[in-house]
Parts: sequence; structure tokens; C-alpha cells
Amino acid sequence: MMAGCLNSRFGQTITLAQNLAQTLKQIQSTILLAIVLDSSSHRSSCSHPSLARLSFCRFLFCGVIALHCTGRTSASMADPEDVLADSLETFYDYVPVALSSSGSTFTYSSPLLSDMITLTTPDTQAANWSLHATSIWRSSIYIADHLADLELDRHIGRARSQDRPLTLLELGAGAGLPSIMIAKTCKDVLVTASDYPDERLISTLSENVKRNEVSDRCRVVPYNWGSDPTQLLSQTSGGFDIVLAADTLWNLDLHAIFVDTLQRTLRPSPDARVYIVAGLHTGRYVINSFLRRMRDAKFVAESLVERSVSESSNDRTWSVEHADEEDEQERRRWVVWMIFKWADC
Ligand SMILES: C[S@@+](CC[C@H](N)C(=O)[O-])C[C@H]1O[C@@H](n2cnc3c(N)ncnc32)[C@H](O)[C@@H]1O
Repeated sequence: MMAGCLNSRFGQTITLAQNLAQTLKQIQSTILLAIVLDSSSHRSSCSHPSLARLSFCRFLFCGVIALHCTGRTSASMADPEDVLADSLETFYDYVPVALSSSGSTFTYSSPLLSDMITLTTPDTQAANWSLHATSIWRSSIYIADHLADLELDRHIGRARSQDRPLTLLELGAGAGLPSIMIAKTCKDVLVTASDYPDERLISTLSENVKRNEVSDRCRVVPYNWGSDPTQLLSQTSGGFDIVLAADTLWNLDLHAIFVDTLQRTLRPSPDARVYIVAGLHTGRYVINSFLRRMRDAKFVAESLVERSVSESSNDRTWSVEHADEEDEQERRRWVVWMIFKWADC
């Protein structure tokens, strides 16, 4: 009896100690996370008293965010930038246009997959930071989430009737989520994932393809838009059935070489399609300028739809008109889903 009582007291003490240790661990990780978030959101220091107050408020704010997040277990929470993005979304309905930071691990799951896709977010040489390849952008996640809208079965059927596999090229693939998702779920598609010939970027993209065990159906080819596409085209007979790109329109100066690449890589066939998904954060006037260039290059838009990233029932037809009626926060909630075909094929 006495021994049982002692055992039970001993058990309670152990549980208490464990709880205390867990609480201390949580406080410690909360403070650490707050420090990380605070330092990553603002790196310079300042001695002005009002800015110091602001800094303290920001630290408190980060502390609240960290407290909110340390109770979570999701693997994608490992990256402080994702933690911050997730918390801003929860507290302020602030939709992030890009997730994850270079070098961090990003996991993606879907009812279409039996296992998760695990990606390392690429890094680039410092000289190539302007490529914006060091995140996983919302548009590529949107494509992976809405794979059925690429109508791959219909495209595969057409290619099969010509006794050949469907060929698909992703331009500016970054970490490679859409390419890897397609290669994992559609056995009859030969995928080429390409991005700018930056050594670090291409090696991470290649590792992501290997790690997710799709190397037999997805090859990686370094390619600078506007350059000779011979290597890209080597596994196709005269061009790709589908060319796909996520968030590649943000820079007006790159539109000419991007459109040139589309012209040189899309199969000259009435069935060939270009699918481009661009976050509205790109800017309506920038997107509109791209659309004009596509028209000049003899592409016709088969579909231009604005789609809400959170509510699928909210689709609306693309229009440049709304540019002055919406703020940045509103633009973050939308992507533009564009489908093009050859005008005279
Ligand atoms: C905003 S990121 C989008 C990355 C990826 N599609 C995603 O959604 O996560 C733009 C991508 O375009 C690529 N890119 C930019 N300029 C390029 C060029 N001249 N040639 C090839 N790729 C380029 C970048 O390296 C980067 O991967």
C-alpha cells in the first residue's frame, strides 16, 4: 500500500517535472523564435527612442506570433519565414505570395499522392538573386493544387493517338513543384523542368527531382530564356505539347525573351497549349503588357481567368480595369490562370 502510494507520488512528481520541462522548452523556443523573427524582419539597429519603442513593439508582436506557432507540429513550420507568413495570414488575413526561404525544406501533400513531395527551396549565386528563385511561389502551389485544370488526360489521349508520349516543359521551375507533381501523378508525360543556368539553382532542382523519385519521367535542363533551345527540345519531335510556367512575368524587361522561348519551344500544332499562372501581385499593367506581346507573337488567349487562392467559387474574367480599385493585400488573394494556343495553326 505504502509502496503503491510512494510509486504514485513518484509518478506525479515525474509528470510534474516533465510538464515543467515542456513548458520551459516552449518558453525557450518562443523567445528564440521571437528573436529570429525580429532579427529577420529588420536587420539594422537604431538608437532613436521612438524607433526603439517600435522595435520593442515589433519584438512583442513577434513573440505573440511565435507563441501562436510553437504549439504547431506541421513540418513546413520549420522555416521562420513560413511561421511568420502563416501567422500573418491567421491574424491579419495577409496572403503570402511566396513561401519558404532558400535552403529550407518544404513539404507538399495532396489527395492525389500516396506520399509527400519534399523539396529543398533553392539558393542561387549572389549575382542571380534578381531571379527570385529562392522561394516557392504561391502560383506553383496553386498549379499543383489544381492539376486537373491542365486537362492532362485529354492531352495524353491526343498524343497517344499519335503513338507518342505527351511532352511538357516547365520554364522557371524553381524548386520544381508542378513538374514533380505532374511526373508523380501522370505516368504518360515526359516532363522537362528547366530554369536559369545557375549552378546552385539547377543542382537543387535536380536533387528535388531525384529525392522524389521521378528522374525516369522528369529531366532537368538549365536554360536561359531567349537562348538556343536545342538542348531543351532534344527529347521532342518539333516542340513540347505543353509549356507551363508559374510566376514568371514579374519583370517587364524579361517578357521579350520569355515570349521568344515560348515561340521556339511550343509544338506547332493546334492542340499545343501554354499554361501560365501569375499572382496578381505581378501587377495588372505588367500582365496586360505581356498579353499584348503574346498577341504580337501570334498566340491567342484561349482562357484568361482571375482565380481566388482561397475560394474556388470566386473565379472572374481577367480585366486590366480593376488596377486602381484594389490594394496590394487584395492582389495577393488572386492568381491569373492563362491558357494560350497558336493563333494560326
Ligand atoms: C518568381 S520565380 C518562380 C519560381 C517557381 N516557378 C515558383 O513558382 O516557385 C521566377 C523563376 O523564373 C526563373 N527565371 C528568371 N529569369 C530567367 C531567365 N532569364 N531564364 C530562365 N529562368 C529564369 C527564376 O530563376 C525563377 O525560378
